[in-house]
Amino acid sequence: MTTSNEDRDNAFHEFERAGWERVAADYHRFFANLTTRFIDPLLDAANVKAGQRVLDVASGPGYVAAAAAQRGADVVGIDFAEAAVAVARRQYPGILFQTGSAEELPFPDSQFAAVVMNFGLLHLAQPEVALAEACRVLSAGGRVAFSVWSDPQVGVGFKIILDAIAEHGNMAIPLPDGPAFFRFSDPAESTRALTDAGFIAPSVEEIRIAWELPHEDALFETFLHGAVRTGALLQAQTPQALADIRWAVRDGVMAFAEAGRIRLPMAAVISSARKR
Ligand SMILES: C[S@@+](CC[C@H](N)C(=O)[O-])C[C@H]1O[C@@H](n2cnc3c(N)ncnc32)[C@H](O)[C@@H]1O
Repeated sequence: MTTSNEDRDNAFHEFERAGWERVAADYHRFFANLTTRFIDPLLDAANVKAGQRVLDVASGPGYVAAAAAQRGADVVGIDFAEAAVAVARRQYPGILFQTGSAEELPFPDSQFAAVVMNFGLLHLAQPEVALAEACRVLSAGGRVAFSVWSDPQVGVGFKIILDAIAEHGNMAIPLPDGPAFFRFSDPAESTRALTDAGFIAPSVEEIRIAWELPHEDALFETFLHGAVRTGALLQAQTPQALADIRWAVRDGVMAFAEAGRIRLPMAAVISSARKR
């Protein structure tokens, strides 16, 4: 029996949605001091300013929406996981957050001056549909900007985790089939996707940071508890393999310890473009 593309997309969407319902609170606990580091360049790429109407797609705990509101924008956040929306509402009670899908935005055409998505696109079953939706809800001249993780060769945290699983565990765990996680880390691919969605003047930049970890197990625990795809991969390992992976990740992390601080190189690719 062959599975249609629609069945495959639905299965991946449901896997991600159920996963984010489960990890939303832990994501906030583990990733806050990482993903927030990329918000200013993301908002700059979208040219977010006071008085503009801004949509934060895949808003998670609401960090980007809050930063846009700080700039004086009139912002709404949307996320398909009720648990994520609940965290965001608790964190930022003055900001409007609602449940909904990036691939089917519940807004009329031409409503927003900017649409931003911080580390959302890489989780979507249909990223092209989400970019077309962003274009639809933007007014003429409005800007879209999204961030994704850089290739693991640059974002060392991913390399440590993925190498440890490859070496000590099983990478071939059957998970619902979705778009490649690092697809939009390639500037040519994100430029092509933006142009295909109807945007003009695409531009791509890479932002590199040092992520300070509180202890040697923090990277392993972040991915085990706060991530959906990599978390599922880790949780499906045998107890022995998981223990070996933990040790390998710890060793990898400690290679970046200096004077009592662990500072891991991480990087994101931020792509942006304009609606004609
Ligand atoms: C990695 S988190 C990013 C959260 C936040 N933007 C940040 O800056 O940390 C990804 C978020 O995307 C949401 N998400 C994933 N797929 C989605 C979809 N199809 N529609 C709406 N939200 C989605 C998840 O629920 C999760 O909250």
